[in-house]
Amino acid sequence: MLAGEKILITGAAGRVAFPIARALARENEVYGLARFGDPANRARLEALGITCVQKDLSRDDFGDLPQDFGYVFHAGAVFGEEGERDWRYMFDANVQGTGRLMQHCRAAKGFVHCSTGSVYRYQGPRPLKESDPPGVHIGAYSLSKIAAESVVTFVARSWEIPTSIIRICSTYGPTGGAPADRLDALINGRAIRLHPDKPNYFNPIYEDDYVELGIRAMLAARTPPLVVNWAGSESVSAEEYCEYMGKLVGIEPKFVYTEDAYTPLRPDVSLMHEVLGRTRVPWKDGMRRMLQARYPHLPLREVR
Ligand SMILES: NC(=O)c1ccc[n+]([C@@H]2O[C@H](COP(=O)([O-])OP(=O)(O)OC[C@H]3O[C@@H](n4cnc5c(N)ncnc54)[C@H](OP(=O)(O)O)[C@@H]3O)[C@@H](O)[C@H]2O)c1
Repeated sequence: MLAGEKILITGAAGRVAFPIARALARENEVYGLARFGDPANRARLEALGITCVQKDLSRDDFGDLPQDFGYVFHAGAVFGEEGERDWRYMFDANVQGTGRLMQHCRAAKGFVHCSTGSVYRYQGPRPLKESDPPGVHIGAYSLSKIAAESVVTFVARSWEIPTSIIRICSTYGPTGGAPADRLDALINGRAIRLHPDKPNYFNPIYEDDYVELGIRAMLAARTPPLVVNWAGSESVSAEEYCEYMGKLVGIEPKFVYTEDAYTPLRPDVSLMHEVLGRTRVPWKDGMRRMLQARYPHLPLREVR
């Protein structure tokens, strides 16, 4: 755990960053940067003692932002419909904005850049290693994240900024994630869309684990950057975890297999185990805890 540090977290109210910001705010001076279009997000952070800085990564100047952050966890990024609607805006934020922010925070002892498993070209069901080739997994978003990794590497080398590039693969927990989206479909009787290459393997990483591994990634930062898959230690198929959650609530999941669904994403986590450690929450515990947090009124059945 880090203590007594000045830390900048971008996208601080988001799914990945919020639990990390909450944990770090207990013993550190934390700043949260985002556009804060929804004032409730700012209020949630301020209630934890976090100093909020309203900026748009795509265009705003960082001149008035402190430069003496000891660590940066950079999770802010444009994606989804917003990014696909305006790819230039997405590139300005995810690529150029990342480079400018990093240059501004060049005094940091550790800079974590949140990349994604969506930078990989699909290789079929085998686990993906960090050396595997890039590809377009999720449209222009993947392209922006591939470009951002390259810019991050350039800035880290130029300014000798210790850096970790974490390729995030399927986070989940009370704040959401792909397993939560599938859970919502299950509960609401909607079909769960999966890729025809079944079973659809993933390594989901639960909130407790990603808070711990996020902080370790800051401490493990180095130059040239550490590039590492960041995921759960266990592989489990979406079919299996949906069936398990279905049994807990007494609903049979309806799967629809379509080429339009995202391909499975199964990372090789051997480097992660070596440099950051293993995750500890078994997937069944994590799925049960997510279900309880998101649907507290639903009684759960006993399932082995
Ligand atoms: N969740 C996953 O499983 C997963 C998987 C792979 C990679 N990732 C990566 O992890 C990071 C966090 O993802 P997430 O799932 O936590 O997403 P999220 O919940 O949407 O959080 C992203 C945050 O970025 C902020 N943001 C977006 N555009 C911005 C801009 N132009 N300027 C400043 N801030 C901006 C948003 O806040 P405002 O709207 O208030 O600005 C939001 O709080 C991203 O870099 C993403 O690519 C996540």
